[in-house]
Amino acid sequence: MEKIVVAKGIKKSYIKNKSIRTVVLKGIDLEIYRGEILCIMGPSGVGKSTLLYVLSSLEEPDEGVVTYYLNEEIYEIHKQKPDEIANLRNRKIGFVFQFHYLLPEFDALENVAMPLIIRGIKSKEAQKQAKEMLGIVGLNNRLNHRPYELSGGEQQRVAIARALVTHPAIVFADEPTGNLDTNSAKTFLDLIVDLKEKFRTTFVIATHSLEVASYATRIAKMKDGLIVEIIS
Ligand SMILES: Nc1ncnc2c1ncn2[C@@H]1O[C@H](COP(=O)(O)OP(=O)(O)O)[C@@H](O)[C@H]1O
Ligand SMILES: [Mg+2]
Repeated sequence: MEKIVVAKGIKKSYIKNKSIRTVVLKGIDLEIYRGEILCIMGPSGVGKSTLLYVLSSLEEPDEGVVTYYLNEEIYEIHKQKPDEIANLRNRKIGFVFQFHYLLPEFDALENVAMPLIIRGIKSKEAQKQAKEMLGIVGLNNRLNHRPYELSGGEQQRVAIARALVTHPAIVFADEPTGNLDTNSAKTFLDLIVDLKEKFRTTFVIATHSLEVASYATRIAKMKDGLIVEIIS
C-alpha cells in the first residue's frame, strides 16, 4: 500500500485562560494510504477535529511530524514556508469542515469556481467545471444563490463541491454529513466512493455516524488522546 500522509508522535494541547491546559492529542501515530476512506471515530471532545486540523496542515502540533508523500516528493508539512503550504493546500488538499467558510458575497457557482481561478484556470472553464460539480451534489438549481440564501445542508453541499472541484489528492472532512438529510448524505457518500475508485482520491473523515463509517475502508478509533484501535 502506498502511503500519502504519515503522522508520528503528534501531541497537541490547548491552554485556556493562561493556566488550564487541555491535552487533546497525546502521541498519535497514523499512516494514511492512497485511495483509502479512513474514518476517525470516537466520542465528542476526544480530539477528532483537532487531529484533522493537524493532519491537514491548518494547525501545528506541539510535538511530532506530519509528512506528505506526493508525486515522489516528500514534504514535512509544518516545515514548509507559508506560501509553499498554501500552494500545497490549493493543489493537493480538499477541506470539508463544519464551518464552511463560504465567501458570503459570492454565489454558489463563484464559491466553487474560486479554487480553480486561484490555480490560474480561466474564468469560463472554471465556471464550467464548478457547474458540473454543483450538479453532482444536486445544486443545479441554486447556482446563483449566495450562502445566506441557502439552507445549512445546501451550504454544506457547496462546500463539498468546492473541496472536490480541484480533484485533490486527499480530502479531509469533519462530520461532513452532519447537516445533510438521508438522501444528500447518500449522494455524498456515493460520490466519495466514486472519486476514490476513479481518481484514487484519499478521504479522511471524522464522524460519529455509523452510516458514514460503513463506507470506510479503515476505521481509527480515538480514546483519551490516542488512537486505540484500527479496524480494516
Ligand atoms: N481552540 C481551542 N481552545 C481550547 N480548547 C479547545 C480548542 N479546540 C478544541 N478544544 C478542546 O479540545 C478537545 C477536543 O476538541 P475537538 O478536537 O473539537 O474534539 P472532537 O472533534 O472529537 O469533538 C475538547 O475538549 C475541546 O473543548
Ligand atoms: Mg469535532
